[in-house]
Amino acid sequence: MKSIIFFIALLIVGTRSQTASPSAYVDRECGQNLQTLWLDVVVVVDNSAGMTNTGLTQVASNIATVFLNGTQIGSNYTDPRSTRVSLVTYNSDAAITADLNTYQSIDDLMGGAFGALGAASPNTESTLQRGIAAAEQVLNNGRQGVRTNYKQAVIIYASEYSGTGEKDPKPAADRLKESGVQIITVAFNQDGNQALLAKLSEIASPGYNFTSLDTNIVGEIQGALLQINCFCPDLWVQYKADFNDRAAYKYGVCVRSAGLQSAWTPAKFACQNFAKTGFLVSEFSQQKHDFVFALVQNDPTVTAPFMYHIGLSKINGVWSWQQPAGQSVLPLQGYSKWNPGYATSVSSDTAVLNSQTGTNLDAGWQNISPYTVSKNYVCESNSCDTDNYCA
Ligand SMILES: *[C@@H]1O[C@H](CO)[C@@H](O)[C@H](O)[C@H]1NC(C)=O
Ligand SMILES: *[C@@H]1O[C@H](CO)[C@@H](O)[C@H](O)[C@H]1NC(C)=O
Ligand SMILES: *[C@@H]1O[C@H](CO)[C@@H](O)[C@H](O)[C@H]1NC(C)=O
Repeated sequence: MKSIIFFIALLIVGTRSQTASPSAYVDRECGQNLQTLWLDVVVVVDNSAGMTNTGLTQVASNIATVFLNGTQIGSNYTDPRSTRVSLVTYNSDAAITADLNTYQSIDDLMGGAFGALGAASPNTESTLQRGIAAAEQVLNNGRQGVRTNYKQAVIIYASEYSGTGEKDPKPAADRLKESGVQIITVAFNQDGNQALLAKLSEIASPGYNFTSLDTNIVGEIQGALLQINCFCPDLWVQYKADFNDRAAYKYGVCVRSAGLQSAWTPAKFACQNFAKTGFLVSEFSQQKHDFVFALVQNDPTVTAPFMYHIGLSKINGVWSWQQPAGQSVLPLQGYSKWNPGYATSVSSDTAVLNSQTGTNLDAGWQNISPYTVSKNYVCESNSCDTDNYCA
């Protein structure tokens, strides 16, 4: 009797662990944990006379508050998820107050920021180009083979936009952005100077142009840093609300058109091999379907008509979506995209192909054999972010 109860208990525990943490029927969001932010950040602050002493103190308190939600400052932690912060000031020229290794705790950062930003310079010139060039130098010096997997961000506080020729800030900013650095700008103007806002928007990465007049400026910067920390490894494309809009909302999801021909079942295993959290892509919504279709259409190795396997298959008689290893499949609900006449009742056609048929501009689902139809396929995996460190 005892052994039977023990056996039943084992069965329950076993079943539990297999069906643990069923995912919601939505696409994964980017990690939102500021305590595990992992970035290299250069803060570039205009300290010309126009900023005023009060203004600079406000900036110092702003910078400290951005990282006061428990972000590990420096690089000397057991958990690799930490953020190095450098501080650069500029007026007619730039000064590197702290490189990426100077501050090894939030107290270091606070002391450094309030110390360096205690008073505005008497210098009235504000040459943003000098500040950006110094940031570039700090980022290059701080790399040298270390933390090459960490995203880099520059936060610029500017009271003025000026400079032409070799003092034009735009080429320096473009160079940084092209090398993968994301730029956040904060227009520091008490009077809502529209020209400054417009010019700084050209320096900022899409969606990361802010103003100090925003009462939630700290939250905006934290949100931008969390988004910058959310990215996909090489060969993967981050799922966004709109494929063609660079500023569109980003999800914590990476997708990849394999550009290889395979039957559905081997494609399923290939996706699991591509990444630890890899699986054949799911389409919970028209928005996701549209993104995946656009991804395939933009894959130079594939041609129309577009056909690719997705993660839908019939499991124990129920159409279900693949999930990362260790998570239960998700039964199909809500949105569906069957082509006319599908799903058919052919008992061996238990896998799903997205297929652009006849004169259709869009692709739709049709069920096929998981073993015999060799086509392209699309994989999905979790993004690298504050919940998912990518070494
Ligand atoms: C950061 O900390 C402040 C103060 O404790 C809190 O109000 C805010 O909600 C926190 N923000 C995040 C994103 O955790
Ligand atoms: C790094 O951490 C170790 C152990 O906590 C400490 O002994 C060492 O001094 C730290 N190094 C720096 C550069 O802060
Ligand atoms: C940011 O840039 C966008 C696009 O240029 C613009 O519509 C928006 O008003 C800007 N926001 C601020 C605060 O400057």
